[in-house]
Amino acid sequence: MPLEKMQQVLSDRLQEMKEDGTLKGDELVITGVKESEDGNAPRYYLQDEDGAFLKMNSNSYLGLHLNDEVIEAEEEASKVYGSGPGAVRFIHGTYEPHVELEKKLADFHDKEACMIYSSAYATMTGIIQPLTSKKTLILSDELNHNCIINGIRMAKPKGKGIYDHLDNDDLDKQLSKAAREYDRVIVITDGVFSMRGDYPDLEELVSTVKKYDSEFKDGVFTIMDDSHGIGAYGETGRGTSEIAGENGIDLIVATMGKALGVNGGYVVTKSKVVEYLRETSPFYIYSNPITAPEAEAAIKSLEIIDSSQGRDMLSHLRKMTNYFEEGLKDIGHEVIEGPHPVVPLMVRDTKKTRDLVGFLKENKVLATAIVYPVVPHGDESIRFQLCANHSTDDLDYVLETIDKFE
Ligand SMILES: Cc1ncc(COP(=O)(O)O)c(C=O)c1O
Repeated sequence: MPLEKMQQVLSDRLQEMKEDGTLKGDELVITGVKESEDGNAPRYYLQDEDGAFLKMNSNSYLGLHLNDEVIEAEEEASKVYGSGPGAVRFIHGTYEPHVELEKKLADFHDKEACMIYSSAYATMTGIIQPLTSKKTLILSDELNHNCIINGIRMAKPKGKGIYDHLDNDDLDKQLSKAAREYDRVIVITDGVFSMRGDYPDLEELVSTVKKYDSEFKDGVFTIMDDSHGIGAYGETGRGTSEIAGENGIDLIVATMGKALGVNGGYVVTKSKVVEYLRETSPFYIYSNPITAPEAEAAIKSLEIIDSSQGRDMLSHLRKMTNYFEEGLKDIGHEVIEGPHPVVPLMVRDTKKTRDLVGFLKENKVLATAIVYPVVPHGDESIRFQLCANHSTDDLDYVLETIDKFE
């Protein structure tokens, strides 16, 4: 029987994953959204669950996925262009909103050019390979996102190195050891690391890289994935570059599926790099772009972020983040503090973490348990993600619920 033996192999593997705690299991199915009431955040309905839930685990940091203007922009564009792109970009899938969005994203980041992809994952895996030569070394932060890890695997560089998390001295050491062995070095880091809300010292990183540029025939350049940072922090939503006061990263990658509340990914960099990637990047050439309506929605999100309304949202988000951090500390909890709206509550025990997340869910609050093997034993935490549509009443309710947990 076809697949009979394979099914047994796969079910054994799934059983192993269940036993070692890595199985993600059944997904929660959202069946509807209850609009905001009295200035509080919207609530979500879930399949097979009574009542409505408060989300403390959404990547839509500004709540723009439910913004009327963004939704209207997508709806209106679908009436003009239809629902799908119908072809990849170079065949006949390039629409005016794609081109306009690229221009707006490049301007937003103060970079020469932009190229959009179907997702940030496709962007990262799609750019590393064409930029890697047979004599390239890639250096990567040890906690980088999975899209970077797989992007490096696919690129098959001559050398790969992992430097200690956020450790520019270690990066410096690895660069000095590599001098003259390679033609080109690519240094890749996440912007904000979404499990902990921490981020690299970009000023130091950029100056370390510059120090070694002349030692390699094609130089040393940097790529940063700021998918959780763009639109989520920084006074004007420009993410880690803004927080760190350094916009010298050579290629910035981000998603439009988090703070922008839409879908898709992009890279911003020099025009020549984009011109080359359009000709060589497989995930761009052979895979559909986001739809024209999605592009219109993203343009609207970007306009909102880059306006006084967006700055007010970001300011409220910062206030809510501080309020929640202080509230957790006041009731005796350990938190990793920072400017990013990810607030990790350090529980440092797998069972207690899962039990508290279960207790929150019983009380209609959704949050994410981060446990081994995602983090080492002893670092178990609950990841709370704040949103610009949260109110102090919402957060007081979450804090009171946590405080009731025995
Ligand atoms: C750092 C980082 N990069 C990339 C992605 C993937 O984004 P997308 O859903 O647009 O592929 C994520 C999403 O979890 C992320 O956290």
